[in-house]
Amino acid sequence: MARDQRSGIRDQAGRPIRATGRRIVAASSFAVLLLVAGCRQDMQDQPKMFPQRGTDFYADHRGARPQVLNTVARGQLHDDSYFYTGVVQGANGYREEQNFMPFPVTLEVLKRGQERFNIYCTPCHSRVGNGLGEIVERGYKPAANFHDQVRMSQPLSHYFYVMTHGYGAMPDYSAQLTPEDRWAVAAYIRALQLSEAATSADVPAGVAVQDLKSIAEAEGHPEYAQPWALPATAVQAYPHTKEGTPGMAPGNPADPAIKIPASKPAATAAAK
Ligand code: HEC
Repeated sequence: MARDQRSGIRDQAGRPIRATGRRIVAASSFAVLLLVAGCRQDMQDQPKMFPQRGTDFYADHRGARPQVLNTVARGQLHDDSYFYTGVVQGANGYREEQNFMPFPVTLEVLKRGQERFNIYCTPCHSRVGNGLGEIVERGYKPAANFHDQVRMSQPLSHYFYVMTHGYGAMPDYSAQLTPEDRWAVAAYIRALQLSEAATSADVPAGVAVQDLKSIAEAEGHPEYAQPWALPATAVQAYPHTKEGTPGMAPGNPADPAIKIPASKPAATAAAK
């Protein structure tokens, strides 16, 4: 009280009015408390739409709202269609694959591509990309050999397209790899191809191009100095040969009967 006399709001007679103010605050907060307790609404009960459940809120009683026609959701413009599809509209009306990247390839992009490739592609295609990964050794259809002539001549965006849509026995990887990552993997596959078919024109003057056969031998892994043979576990839908080795799809890169061109090193593997 002594403090109230020294400061604070006073009525006309000079009496402090804070006590009255406090009473009003107390009374009104009590009233608010009663009100809130009376019509309690928990957070889990708040009004909201439930997936696949009807609602009275909209005239059509659908909780899931259809997309608004002729609009594009934020972040989904995708106007760079080559980046998202890997194809362009050709003059003949067909969609065409192209042999260029939609963004510049830096060392960082290649490293990202290598990392994603080693995670998602090597189980079937192997680290060197010869199509004879661990899963193939256990009976999956041989995956494509990225170093054969067909694959070497495919345009860059073909790899993007295959990762996006799958190809024959190969599932698609669009859920695992963002478009950017798919391009990074495509760029890395090109680097892999170059690594096995490099000529002295591709390297700085004076640097020797070593073939993988001699590297494998020098590193003490002669088993990688020639094409890998599939083990007997690679049971495919082809009958075994007379010798008891697994039958192979026609033109399988692992088939020893297929001659490797003399211009290319015989080794297709340095590491698995
Ligand atoms: C589960 C095994 C498997 C995985 C994992 C896999 N592939 Fe394949 N891939 C295959 C098979 C099998 C084929 C051959 C398809 C066929 O002939 O039916 C193939 C074929 C391909 C082809 C050749 C298409 C053509 O035109 O001939 C490309 C390119 C390819 N894969 C890229 C990739 C990339 C890139 C990845 C990693 C993102 C990947 N694959 C992961 C199994 C796999």
